[in-house]
Amino acid sequence: VNPAAAEAQLARGRAIEGWFSFEAGMLFAWIDAIQRDAGITGDVFEIGVHHGKSATLLAALLRDGERLRVCDLFGSQDANVSRSGSGQRDVFEANVRALVPGAVPEVFACASSQLDAARLGAGHRLFHVDGGHNPEEALADLELAAACTGERGVIALDDPFQPAWPGVTEGLLRFLDRDDRFVAVVLGFNKLLLARREHASLYAARLDDREERRRFLILYPWQMKKLPLHGDELRIFHVPSWRSLHSLRTRAVRSIDRSALARKGPFKAIASRLRSKLAT
Ligand SMILES: C[S@@+](CC[C@H](N)C(=O)[O-])C[C@H]1O[C@@H](n2cnc3c(N)ncnc32)[C@H](O)[C@@H]1O
Repeated sequence: VNPAAAEAQLARGRAIEGWFSFEAGMLFAWIDAIQRDAGITGDVFEIGVHHGKSATLLAALLRDGERLRVCDLFGSQDANVSRSGSGQRDVFEANVRALVPGAVPEVFACASSQLDAARLGAGHRLFHVDGGHNPEEALADLELAAACTGERGVIALDDPFQPAWPGVTEGLLRFLDRDDRFVAVVLGFNKLLLARREHASLYAARLDDREERRRFLILYPWQMKKLPLHGDELRIFHVPSWRSLHSLRTRAVRSIDRSALARKGPFKAIASRLRSKLAT
C-alpha cells in the first residue's frame, strides 16, 4: 500500500484494543512498499493477534493471490504462560471483516509450538512474531519464522529490548547466536526487523533514505542512529533524551505532520513555518 492508504487503514484501526503504534504500522507499510518495488511476493503470517490491531494492517497489505495467515491461542489462554495479550477469535474476526472487507485470514487456533515449517511452508514475505514473550517461546517462534520466510522476506519481532519483556530479548540473542543467516536491520516502535544477510541491503538502503522516511511519516520526535548489534549495523529509531514523546510540543508537531490540510496549497507554507518553530 502507499503511505496515504496505510495512514487511512491505521486510522480506521485506531479504536481496536492492542499494541501496535501508528509508526510501527507505517514501518510495516514501508517494508511492504520496498517488497512491492523489488517484486517480492508471498503470504503474510502473524503469531499473536489479540484483537487484530496489527493483523488488520497486515491484511490491507496483501496483493492478489496472497493470504494472511495467523496463529493465536484464542480460547486456550491457560497456555498463555507469559501472559502477553489475550486473543479473542470473535473480536479478531469481526475487526478484520469490518476493516478489510473481503480479507479472509487462515486461522491456526493453537499454540505456535504446534506449528511447523512443513505444515506452513516457506516463502512468506513478512512474518510477524508477537505471541508468547518467554525466552523459549520467542526463540521457537523466531526459528519457525526463519524456516517459513522467503529468501528476500522479513521477520518482524515484537517487544525486543523492552525491560518488561526480557524473554523476547533473550530469545532474540539466542536466535542470532544460532542462526547467522539473519541480521537485524532496523529497530523502532517496539519492533525489530530481520532479513537474510545477503538481502539486508535491499531494505537498509531504502530505510536510510530521508525522503522516503518523510513520505512514511516517521518524523518528529524520532531520530535514526546506527549502532552495532551482534556484529552487524542496526538502524535505531529513537526519541532523543532532550525530546519527549508526550509533550505538548511533540503533539503539536505530530498533528501538523499528520494533517492533510497542512500538506495542501495555501496552508502548506504556514504549517511548515509553524512546524520549524516548534520542531527545534
Ligand atoms: C501482545 S498480544 C498480540 C498483539 C497484537 N499483535 C496487536 O497488534 O495488538 C499477544 C497474543 O499472543 C497470543 N499468544 C500468547 N502465547 C501464545 C502462544 N504460545 N501461541 C500462540 N499465541 C500466543 C495471545 O493470545 C495474544 O493474543
